[in-house]
This record gives sequence, structure tokens and C-alpha cells, in this order.
Amino acid sequence: MAGRIKKPWAGRFKGQTDPRMDRFQASIGFDKRLALADVAVNLAHGRMLRRLGLLDDREWAAIETGLREIESDIRAGRFEFKLELEDVHMNLEAALIERVGPVGAKIHTGRSRNDQVAADFRLYLRSGVDEVLAGLKALRRVLVRLAREHLEVILPGYTHLQRAQPVRLAQHFLAYFQMLGRDAERFAQARARLNRSPLGAAALAGTTFALDREAVAAELGFDGPVLNSIDAVSDRDFALDFVSAAAVLMVHLSRLAEELVLWSSQEFGFIEMPDSFSTGSSIMPQKKNPDAAELIRAKSGRVFGHLTALLTMLKGLPLAYNKDLQEDKEPVFDTLETVLPILELLPDLLVGLRFREERMRAACLDGFLEATDLADWLAARGVPFRQAHQQVGELVGYCLDQGKRLGQLSLEELRRFCPRAEAEALTWLELEAVVDRRESLGGTGRSEVVRQIEAALKELED
Ligand code: ARG
Repeated sequence: MAGRIKKPWAGRFKGQTDPRMDRFQASIGFDKRLALADVAVNLAHGRMLRRLGLLDDREWAAIETGLREIESDIRAGRFEFKLELEDVHMNLEAALIERVGPVGAKIHTGRSRNDQVAADFRLYLRSGVDEVLAGLKALRRVLVRLAREHLEVILPGYTHLQRAQPVRLAQHFLAYFQMLGRDAERFAQARARLNRSPLGAAALAGTTFALDREAVAAELGFDGPVLNSIDAVSDRDFALDFVSAAAVLMVHLSRLAEELVLWSSQEFGFIEMPDSFSTGSSIMPQKKNPDAAELIRAKSGRVFGHLTALLTMLKGLPLAYNKDLQEDKEPVFDTLETVLPILELLPDLLVGLRFREERMRAACLDGFLEATDLADWLAARGVPFRQAHQQVGELVGYCLDQGKRLGQLSLEELRRFCPRAEAEALTWLELEAVVDRRESLGGTGRSEVVRQIEAALKELED
């Protein structure tokens, strides 16, 4: 076909690829994200070829200049990616040859796209993980800030989504602080494992050139080479590590988002969403919808899907490289591009929330959240706990029939069900007292929450 681009691998071919095949197999539409990483890999590889004498000074100077020009074109959005050149690697190599002439064709000495793509992908993901880690830190900082600012706010804690026991709002935020801390650990571990260089593995077996794999690894900021050449080009467990860490993170973010949706409903009325992260209805003028939180909740699904896609793509693949592996990129890119915008907006959304403390408090006073404490009070005075539980249960049944709260009962009514009760039991049931009694390690009592906040602040300093 006249005017068609000659493929770098076309030597043994007589026919052209079908344009449908070109479109079908091209990865350039998505792997152009790797272009800057590919430049960095080319530069490190080229410098090493120069040191080995496989390029002379003049050749290396030309290649380096060409690569730098390509780099600035990419940064400026001027670089023209061509579909017929399949992927980012062949696009860059062809551009280099076009700029510097046949010497550019020396850059592919001692390597393959197989080790090249694995290196590019790891570099790209490494900086993605660093952005995720920075975002997680900012989010955790906001959670601690909210905990400090709302230390005295008490709301119902739930089990089975039924009011259970009163807790500090700070305790609730600090629970997420802990979850996200473990997420950060998972990402940091993923980063540590991915930071190894596959370069020098070439197609799968290593090369006949005495490449300095350590030097190239060091130049690219890797902790060292992936030792085995077959492993280096064929495994993508580093992508699995990343997407699975992201999937767990999305579980946590989705739970937080769900609570924002619930709490902002009229039924709960615990928070008001900031206008800046809400939307209205095109038909119902009164509506204010928590779309940001709903989308966070929903987007967890696509990340879980990406994890399944990656696991499925990898399972059963014979060693070493298979073109299947080209399908590793979109799930990872989309995971990153799903998680990062969430981490970018969630801190401001949380800071913009208005907490309706009076509604939270009122909810604590309605629903017998202090019933456990009355049973505990009786148990502390020798009533076997199971018996105390039964007595208080019957008392609650009585209150429900009478439309009364525990705090509204007379001592006489109380004693009808709990013969060991005394007047002191009623003051024992006041809300603050109920919460602050929970000073077991990590509990919701004031002193323990303050301790958690201090530990959190210290952790964020490191
Ligand atoms: N675009 C390819 C990928 O993403 C690059 C590696 C191609 N290697 C090959 N042997 N065809 O996997």
C-alpha cells in the first residue's frame, strides 16, 4: 500500500498488515502515557551502550540530542504518535531515526521491547504510587484535623445499622485514619517490590552483549535489576500488587462515601454536604444530591473489575512474554486515573462538611444507647451479667410501651425491673459519662481519643 509506514520488524514479511489488524493490535492509544518513561529508559540504555563502546561519542551525542528533542516535543504535546507504529516504543524509535538518521537504529542494540515495556511500565507506576501516597497522606491529615476539631461531638455508633452505643465523631474519623494507614503501607510495599529493573533481560534470555544491568538500574532509580531474565519480561505481579492495594483502598473509600450519603440524607441529617461537591436535580427544585460520594462509592466497582481482568489475563500464560501482556496497561492506568482524582477532591469535600451536632446528639438520646451501661452498672454490683442484660432488656421493653427514655424513669420504675438499681445508676447513664467511660485502649473515651490523635499526628510527621 503506497505511503504506508514500514514496520521496524517487517524484514521477513512480504505482505502488509491489514488495517484492521493495525487498529486491533495497536497500543499507542493508551501506552503513549509511557512516552516520557520510554525516553528515560532510552537515555539510560544509550549511555550504557556508549560506555561499552557500542556507540562512539559522536553517535551517542546525536542520539542523546535526538532523544532530548523528542522529550520536549512530548512535553509540549507536539509529538505525533502513529497508529501504524503500534506502540510507544516503535513510535519513539522511528522518530529518533527520522531525526538523527541511521545511527538512531543502534539504540535497540541488546534489548527488546519486552524488557523495555516492563521497565517503562514500572517507572510509570512508581511515580503513580508516589502520587497515591502523597494523596493518602493529605487525606489522613484532614481526618486527624476533623477529629481534633470535633473532639466533643458525640453521635450514635451503629451495628447492623441500628443505633448501638454512643461514640465520639473523632473516633469514627480515626477509624478511617487507621484503614488508610494500612492502605499507605500496602502501596509502599508495592512500590518497594516494583522498583527493580527488567532492562537487560532483552526478549527473554538475556543478551550476547556484556550489558551493565546494575548501572542502568541505578541510573533509573531502581533498587537493582530483576535477577531472572524470563521473570523480568513475563511477570506483572507488580501491577497486581498495585491494583489490589487500590482495590482495598477503594473498599475503604467506598464505605466512607456510603456514610456520607447516609448521613446527608434527611433521615439521618447528621451532615450537610458542601455546595461545591453536590449537585441539584433538573426537575426537583429542592434537591441537593451527594453525587461526589455516590461516584466514589460506585467507582470502587471499576477498580475491582480491573483487578479481576489482570488476574484473569495473567493466569495460565506460558512463560515468557505473550502479547496478552499488552492488556496489562489499561486496567492499571484506569485504576490510577480513578483513585487520584478521588484523593484530590475528598480532603476538601470533608473539610467542607457541616456537622449537625444537635441532630447527632438527639439521635444518641433516642434508642437506649446507654442500655449496655446500665447492665454493666448492675454487673459491677454483683448481678450476673446475663441476668442484668435480661433485666435491662425488659426495662427497655417497658420504656418502649410507655414511650419513655431510660433517663426519664423514676427510681421506682427502674427498680421494678432491676431490683439492685439505685439513684446513682441514673446519673451514670448521662451521655458524656457513657462515652468517657470507654477508656480501654483504643476506645472512644475522651482520653483514649486524645491519645489516638497524638499518635496520629506523630505518625504524620514521619
Ligand atoms: N506494546 C507491547 C506491550 O505493551 C510492547 C511489547 C511488544 N513485544 C512484542 N514482542 N511484540 O506489551
